[in-house]
Amino acid sequence: MPLVFADIESLSRYAADTIVELLRVKPDSLLCAASGSTPTRTYELLVEHFLAEPDLFDQLRVIKLDEWGGLSSDDPASCEHHLRTTLVDPIGLEKRYIAFDGRAPSPERECERIQSWLAGQGPIDICILGLGVNGHLGFNEPGDALWPHAHVTRLSESSLQHAMVRDRPDKPDYGVTLGMADLLQSRHIFLQVSGVSKREPMERLLSGAVCTHFPASFLHLHPHVLLLCDAEAYPAELE
Ligand code: GLP
Repeated sequence: MPLVFADIESLSRYAADTIVELLRVKPDSLLCAASGSTPTRTYELLVEHFLAEPDLFDQLRVIKLDEWGGLSSDDPASCEHHLRTTLVDPIGLEKRYIAFDGRAPSPERECERIQSWLAGQGPIDICILGLGVNGHLGFNEPGDALWPHAHVTRLSESSLQHAMVRDRPDKPDYGVTLGMADLLQSRHIFLQVSGVSKREPMERLLSGAVCTHFPASFLHLHPHVLLLCDAEAYPAELE
């Protein structure tokens, strides 16, 4: 069952404090970072922790969860820009940060590069995920099959309506993402869910059925998932 918080602020504080405790136990943790609006406050709070206790972040490593295909790293809509400005640059993680290049000439080869890095440096210790309104995790989109490792993905209509890209005339036509096994091999997973638009997917998630047409449901197979949601995202009929 989820931990339900009054608002995104208290959810993010709980997440950031818990991540810091995990970092105390394993300072060289590999943290997988989702983009999007939900984890932003958690990242800001991690930066506050860093300013108070910089040594704790000396060995932290970060891997980017996913990226829109074709977007350059300085494009404000890119996951790269989001993570750089909220987390990576403020904590000075540049040298311990690995990320898909959204403009790599061969996205397939870019996925191989990330995958071989993860094979040597993984698994992920702390995986911070958001929930797509269609149940996606990263860009693991609903479908008849899911892919275990880093791959190029065809973006769903739902994903193309995400606030990061929906107003662009030049919408990305693919995404690159870590795969389901990469995520499920994480030691600790934080799924953060916020806002009324996530009520329906939350309801589906909480039904407990595991199905490739709702990728987040695979988190039911993992022993250490913290499902954190705010009151707005918590389905009314369960209150
Ligand atoms: C986007 C991103 C994911 C993110 C998810 C939820 O498509 N690719 O990394 O976790 O959708 O985003 P938000 O938190 O803005 O709802």
